[in-house]
Amino acid sequence: MPSENGRTPATQNLRTPGPTPLPPEVREALARDMVNHRGPEFAAVLRECVDGLKWAFQTRNDILLLTASGTGGLESVVVNMLSPGQKVLVVSIGYFGDRFADIARAYGASVVDIAFPWGQAADPDVVADQLAADPAIDTVFVTHNETSTGVMNPLEQIARAVRRVRPDALLAVDGISSVGSVPVLPDAWGCDVVVSGSQKGWMVPPGLVFVSVSLRGWERQAQAKMPRVYFDWLAHKKHLEKNTTPWTPAVGIVFALQAALERMWAEGLEQIFRRHERIARYTRERLSQLGLRLFADPVHASWTVTAFQASDDVDAKALLRGLREKHNVVLAGGQGRYEGKMLRIGHLGSVEETDIDEVLEALEAELASLGAASAGVRS
Ligand SMILES: Cc1ncc(COP(=O)(O)O)c(C=O)c1O
Repeated sequence: MPSENGRTPATQNLRTPGPTPLPPEVREALARDMVNHRGPEFAAVLRECVDGLKWAFQTRNDILLLTASGTGGLESVVVNMLSPGQKVLVVSIGYFGDRFADIARAYGASVVDIAFPWGQAADPDVVADQLAADPAIDTVFVTHNETSTGVMNPLEQIARAVRRVRPDALLAVDGISSVGSVPVLPDAWGCDVVVSGSQKGWMVPPGLVFVSVSLRGWERQAQAKMPRVYFDWLAHKKHLEKNTTPWTPAVGIVFALQAALERMWAEGLEQIFRRHERIARYTRERLSQLGLRLFADPVHASWTVTAFQASDDVDAKALLRGLREKHNVVLAGGQGRYEGKMLRIGHLGSVEETDIDEVLEALEAELASLGAASAGVRS
C-alpha cells in the first residue's frame, strides 16, 4: 500500500535535506514528453511557475528561474551583484556560508567574513558592529537556513541590523533550504536577493534555482562588473518578460515544478509553514528521547533539517550504512569538519510525522545493534 506521499514499502525513506521525495503528481509530471521550449505550451507553463513562485516567495520583486543547482544560484548572485575588488561581508554559520564566501573570493571580490561557531546562529549585533566598523562595505551575504548544521538564522533581525547601520546596503540571502518551507518575507524584511533550490522544500528534482531580485538589486546589477554570460540576470529578466528563457531550460523539471506548486497552493502557505515547524519540533523531541545529542542551538533550530550526534563510540558512517542497508532509511552525514561525526535528517517538502516515526524506529534498532557490537568488542 503506498503511503500518503506515494512511497511504497519497496522504496527508500529518503530523509536527506535535499533531494527530497517527490509526490506522485510530481513524478507523473516528470513522465511528460518534451515540448518546444520556444512554443506556446511551454510559455504558459513558465508563466504559471513564475507566478506561483512569487506567491510562495511572498514577494512583488522579480523572480528569475535558472537551470542550475543551488551553488549556481549563489554564483549568479556573486557575478550580478559585485565588481572585482568590491568589499562584501559574508556572514557564515557553516559549510554553505563558507561556500558563498569562497565563490565571491574566486571571482576576485574582497571578502570580509564573520564566521560564527558551527551550531550557533549569527548575532545581528555583531553583524551591525562589523558594518559600522568598515564603511567601505556596501554588500552583505547571509545564509538563512544552514543545512550543514541545522541552524536557522534570525533573518529578519539580521536584515534589520543591516538596514540600521547601512540603509542602502545590498542584502543577498541564501534561502536555498528555507524558502517555501519557512516564512521568509523578502519585501517586508528588505532582502534584495533571495535564492532557493528546487530539490529542497519544493518537492522537485535538483536542477532549478529561483532568485528574487528587488529594485535595489537591479540597480546594483546595472553597475556590477563581474564577468557573466549564462547567469546574466538581465538576460533572464528580459526573456521571462516574454515567457521564455535565454538558454534551453530544464523543461522536465519545470513541468515538475508546476505540479509541485499546485500541490503547495492546495495545502496553503501557512499550513506548509506550520507543518514544517511542527515536524521539526517532533523530530527533535524524538531524537532527544533516544539520548541523541542535538547539534543546533535550540533557540535557532531549523524547521527543515535536524543535525545530531550519537555517543562517541558510535561510528556515524556505520550508522548511516546500517539505516540504509537494513531499514531503507536514508539520512545525510556531516559535512566539512563534521564529516563522519554527525547525522542530519531532512524534514522538508513532502514529509509527515509517520515518515519521522520510521526514521526513529530504524535509528533505535541500529543504535541497539551497534551498541551491542561495540559492547561486545569491549568485553
Ligand atoms: C543552504 C544551502 N546553500 C547552498 C547549497 C548548495 O546547493 P547545491 O548542492 O544544489 O549546489 C545547499 C545544498 O544543500 C544548501 O542547503
